[in-house]
Amino acid sequence: MTNDKKKLSIPQLFRKVEQGQPITWLTCYDYPTAYLQEQAGIDMILVGDSLGMTILGYESTLPVTMDDMIRHSQAVRRGAPNTFVIGDMPYMSYQPSIETAIRSAGRFMAEAACDAIKLEGGVEMADRIEGIVHAGIPAIGHLGLTPQSVSALGGYKVQGKGAIQAKKIVDAAKALEQAGAFMILLEMVPDRLCELITKRAEHCIIMSLGSGPHAHGQLLIYHDMFGLYPRFKPRMAKVFGNAGEVILNGLKGYVQEVSDHAFPQPENWFGMPDEDYEGLLKSLD
Ligand code: KIV
Repeated sequence: MTNDKKKLSIPQLFRKVEQGQPITWLTCYDYPTAYLQEQAGIDMILVGDSLGMTILGYESTLPVTMDDMIRHSQAVRRGAPNTFVIGDMPYMSYQPSIETAIRSAGRFMAEAACDAIKLEGGVEMADRIEGIVHAGIPAIGHLGLTPQSVSALGGYKVQGKGAIQAKKIVDAAKALEQAGAFMILLEMVPDRLCELITKRAEHCIIMSLGSGPHAHGQLLIYHDMFGLYPRFKPRMAKVFGNAGEVILNGLKGYVQEVSDHAFPQPENWFGMPDEDYEGLLKSLD
């Protein structure tokens, strides 16, 4: 299939926002899915550390390493050469120090040709964002439900519900914007809080994951939107097609057909002319 898609630059992403066109963003972790997402015209791809759960089967994102992230980001880049790809900084790749953060962010750029990085956390992570941006790397903040802190947050639940908690997220968004983040993802915060932060953003694009329609764009987890994650389906995720069911039916069909000697058929194998076969038999005498 030909592909004349042009990768959006950061100024072009801001232009979309100015023109009132929502930005489309999906997670992706592998080459064939990246290829399909690019064909579909997705604006941005997040190689999320959610791959720890969706691909590697861990209970949380915490065991994911930088090497895991680099390997998957490289595969995504190969599948989507003309899409804005964001590498997600895994647990402990930026928390220890500003220097650790810059070095990890640099690996995404140098080894996987990413266009930007994303990291989780509020005011306390503003200096990491600032350091990364000063190193010439575009940075995205992530507020609200931040899965790397799931234990401290008390589970996968809506954040910023009361006025005090909401104000903390408003302040954190401003701090990250002032630190140089060109984009902030709000995950699972109330729609009105997301709307308020979006209105107050001056030079920062605000994205929503389960935070309502008022942001500048939307992110979904690919595995949730296609019924591919067996453990749970978050309320915020719309299933756009049940690929999990299609694949399961296909797998059952394969088991059945092999068991029934219905697969393979001649079109699924390669024959040998009589002459060659007889020659082979003779050579074995
Ligand atoms: O890892 C990821 O996919 C993410 C999303 C949950 C936003 O960070």
